Amino acid sequence: MNESITKTIGVAFAVCLICSLVVATSAVSLRDLQKENKLNDKRIKILQVADIYNPDQSISEQFSQLESKFLDFNTGMIMSEFNNYNIDEYDQILVTKDPNLSSKIPQSEDIAIIKNRENVGKIYFLRDKMGKIDKLILPIRGYGLWGTLYGYISIEDDFNTVSGIEFYEHKETPGLGAEVDNPKWKSQWKGKKIYQGNQVTLEVIKGKVEKGDKEAVYKVDGLSGATITSRGVTNMVAYWFSESGYSNLFKELDYES
Ligand SMILES: Cc1cc2nc3c(=O)[nH]c(=O)nc-3n(C[C@H](O)[C@H](O)[C@H](O)COP(=O)(O)O)c2cc1C
Repeated sequence: MNESITKTIGVAFAVCLICSLVVATSAVSLRDLQKENKLNDKRIKILQVADIYNPDQSISEQFSQLESKFLDFNTGMIMSEFNNYNIDEYDQILVTKDPNLSSKIPQSEDIAIIKNRENVGKIYFLRDKMGKIDKLILPIRGYGLWGTLYGYISIEDDFNTVSGIEFYEHKETPGLGAEVDNPKWKSQWKGKKIYQGNQVTLEVIKGKVEKGDKEAVYKVDGLSGATITSRGVTNMVAYWFSESGYSNLFKELDYES
């Protein structure tokens, strides 16, 4: 009897040990693949927001059409180099944890509720055959209802007209806030204008944009049952297109062209 209890415990222990080894080994060996998949997902979103994604072509080949640059948010200057970082590996979200590489946003200005903004961001240029800017692809993020939404917005060479919007990570509820991923909702953004004069005016309203509304170009339909997520998207646009975000860059690019 005793012997069989010992045996049972021994077998159970051995099974547990083998299982934990299998789980641990697969977790470790799949880590790089997971990392690569996450990077590819993000790259697909960037290609989609730039409206150049072709699912039948290699992601890295398509991605090479884009020019990645560092952006100093405080001056609006584009930089080819920053602190010896490899631009492909620079993680602008990760650096927000480092007080030397990011700035704490005063609470009164933190409308997107992101707490810290990286001093240097990473943006993408899509150029035409003549080398002129066709689109800019800009990272945006802001708090919704359950967490931060991370995405990209693309704008045309007037630095005002939206070309597209995509989110690659969020915690909003499927069917409610997660409708930010609904292609029909996202398609509305194309052609919308961000600024009226110097003021960021584009917003996600409550309800539907009425036909014939003279201000329709500054309005996107609200996500039904998800007013908080909708407000979060409005606030992130307001933050990232303010002087704390990309407006200094647009002044610099206007000056150059
Ligand atoms: C389980 C659950 C999940 C919800 N998820 C979201 C969400 O992702 N985004 C959001 O804005 N509101 C969400 N809401 C609703 C909010 O609590 C709030 O009622 C809503 O934003 C108000 O929007 P409305 O005025 O359009 O109804 C959720 C509510 C429940 C009960």
